[in-house]
Amino acid sequence: MISFEGVNKWYGSHHALVDVNETVNKGEVVVVCGPSGSGKSTLIRTVNRLEPIQKGRIVVNGQDVHARGVDVNDVRRGIGFVFQQFNLFPHLSALENCMLAPVRLGKMPRREARDLAMAFLERVGLAAKANAYPANLSGGQQQRVAIARALAGKPPLMLFDEPTSALDPEMVNEVLQVMKGLACDGMTMVCVTHEMGFAREVADRVIFMDQGQVLERARPENFFRKPDHPRAQRFLSDIRSPWVTAAGAA
Ligand SMILES: Nc1ncnc2c1ncn2[C@@H]1O[C@H](COP(=O)(O)OP(=O)(O)OP(=O)(O)O)[C@@H](O)[C@H]1O
Ligand SMILES: [Mg+2]
Repeated sequence: MISFEGVNKWYGSHHALVDVNETVNKGEVVVVCGPSGSGKSTLIRTVNRLEPIQKGRIVVNGQDVHARGVDVNDVRRGIGFVFQQFNLFPHLSALENCMLAPVRLGKMPRREARDLAMAFLERVGLAAKANAYPANLSGGQQQRVAIARALAGKPPLMLFDEPTSALDPEMVNEVLQVMKGLACDGMTMVCVTHEMGFAREVADRVIFMDQGQVLERARPENFFRKPDHPRAQRFLSDIRSPWVTAAGAA
């Protein structure tokens, strides 16, 4: 579904992605983790061309997405993207938010788009909130609408960039449950997340990044038992005992 082939990216003189070579197969769930600034967001943002690359190739579903002449709207139509910030249109209801892309980009008749949007709202457990506006939804509900909206484009691939990190703790689970449901249904997913429980339970593979490099790729059971790379070992022990680390640093 995705292949990264010798991908390199710079922001000015900062080398943000260093020789990334990865493959994501159809139906696979890959969790990307690593310290802040390691390039996780950059990596997934290159997949739908939110960020350009300077070297290498990224092939999504047979298409070289960064090739000259490729229509960026075509690329993005085929990829669902869910961000940390939900970015719903505040003046549109949940249902209208989900209908927008199919009607505008997919040129779908409104009636059909409405049925489709309703089906996806049902899938994320929000059929009853179809006519609510974002301001009247909780953070977890807004994020679920954002997922329904991404699904309404019927993408074969979904990318998630820390979809739960802006949420209050009690809302994290409802969003993770929706993501888990998608994974069980066979959706191909790449998720940047610090939710290690989710990674352990749902991921087929964990990718660990540091300083723009993929340092380790492993099955979750192996990664969480004992990663090979010392940097990954340190990362895991830091997130498991942040207070000890803070005290140790002080
Ligand atoms: N638009 C930009 N211009 C310049 N530098 C950038 C830009 N976006 C990111 N960077 C830099 O590139 C590196 C990777 O950033 P990125 O956002 O991909 O990290 P991340 O792993 O997603 O971090 P976090 O966990 O904090 O979200 C960082 O050093 C960051 O400062
Ligand atoms: Mg990030």
